[in-house]
Amino acid sequence: MEIITAVRGFKDILPPETDKWRHIEETAHEVFRAFGYREIRIPLLEKTELFCRGIGESTDIVEKEMYTFLDRGEESLTLRPEATASVIRAYLEHTLHAAETVTKLYTIGPMFRRERPQKGRYRQFHQIDTEILGPDDPRTDAELILMLLHFLGKLGLRDLNLEINSLGCAQCRPAFRGAILSFLHGREEELCGDCRRRLGTNPLRIFDCKVETCAAIISQAPLLPDFLCTGCREHFEKVQACLRLFDQPFHLNAKMVRGLDYYTRTTFEVTSGSLGAQNAVVGGGRYDHLVRDLGGPDISGIGFAIGFERLAAMIPDGDADAVVPGPVLFIAALGETALEKAFLLCNRLRMKGIRAEMDHAGRSLKSQMKRADKLKSLYTLILGEREILENKALLRTMRTSTQEEIGLDRLEETITDLAR
Ligand code: HAM
Repeated sequence: MEIITAVRGFKDILPPETDKWRHIEETAHEVFRAFGYREIRIPLLEKTELFCRGIGESTDIVEKEMYTFLDRGEESLTLRPEATASVIRAYLEHTLHAAETVTKLYTIGPMFRRERPQKGRYRQFHQIDTEILGPDDPRTDAELILMLLHFLGKLGLRDLNLEINSLGCAQCRPAFRGAILSFLHGREEELCGDCRRRLGTNPLRIFDCKVETCAAIISQAPLLPDFLCTGCREHFEKVQACLRLFDQPFHLNAKMVRGLDYYTRTTFEVTSGSLGAQNAVVGGGRYDHLVRDLGGPDISGIGFAIGFERLAAMIPDGDADAVVPGPVLFIAALGETALEKAFLLCNRLRMKGIRAEMDHAGRSLKSQMKRADKLKSLYTLILGEREILENKALLRTMRTSTQEEIGLDRLEETITDLAR
């Protein structure tokens, strides 16, 4: 009978890759906590309307990438393609804004987009997402970006490019939109079908089009930073000044419009040359109207999402091995009485939090020693019928290949002391 495989674009994360993931998650919890963030856990499934309103009807995500279905023919539901809209839905539903003027949240989990799978692009992928709700000052933007780069640095990542841009606000964006429309006037026929449609819905999206002819046309177009109002320009300059305070290098990328419609002012991406075609490991930005657009009060927000798979791909495998060491003790037991003693000891040590391992089948001493080696155990306890009769066991230090006899009565204490 044929085995059943996973759905295309959905992948398993196996050990030792999971050790690396855990290491990343633990570092995230530690860093984000130091910066005052609290964890939020949100459902995978939301009402479709949340993403249509939140991300924008004319985005690729909403137009063609969502896993949407009618729940028993009644209600349209969608597997979340990103976390920001859901975090804000929860923030509003539980009126978190009433409790605090600044709310800093983060969440880690799977997202779903029906894109064409390739290296670094999956249909189920994971994000580490953070959001700050409340403040709209440029220092908040800089602080968020600095925390992000600090986190990536803590994971050992160095050669990263930080690209920043400002997408302006409701005041300056219409002028830019007008400039784009007049620039494209008369060239509509040269654009792809999608972009022609975008002319009517959201001309900014044309900057994101991958079709060669559209990319060539738009590369000559006017750029948003030239249209920023005084408020937006000052905000953006202050963000840059704060980044310089920390000697944080960055590149201005005036063509970066981001793939979601909610952004205003500061936007940013972190890319890496080591990732190939899908080179963006982080995307984020400010959204000053999203909370209001989702039915809430006039509250600003800013956040980012790190692509977990892409981040993990940049961390060498060896780094996680060091983080997840092998057992402190491997118990090589031979014979039924020894096995029973080992079973007791092994599980009691584990319940004390000491990593211990054994072979329940009681295979030959040679094969058990081989296993202890493979697991990179620090010590191996050799427990045979003869040792039990003599009320002792042999403790082998694997690094030095030396062994000593220890009494059975003090076995647990001796090992517990060793593990300290
Ligand atoms: P995004 O740029 O759509 O932003 O996604 C953020 C990151 O998720 C990307 O840079 C990439 O690393 C990863 N990613 C996206 N799609 C895939 C995929 N199909 N396979 C693997 N990785 C992927 C957002 O999602 C915004 N919600 C970020 C944000 C938070 N903005 C403000 N707050």
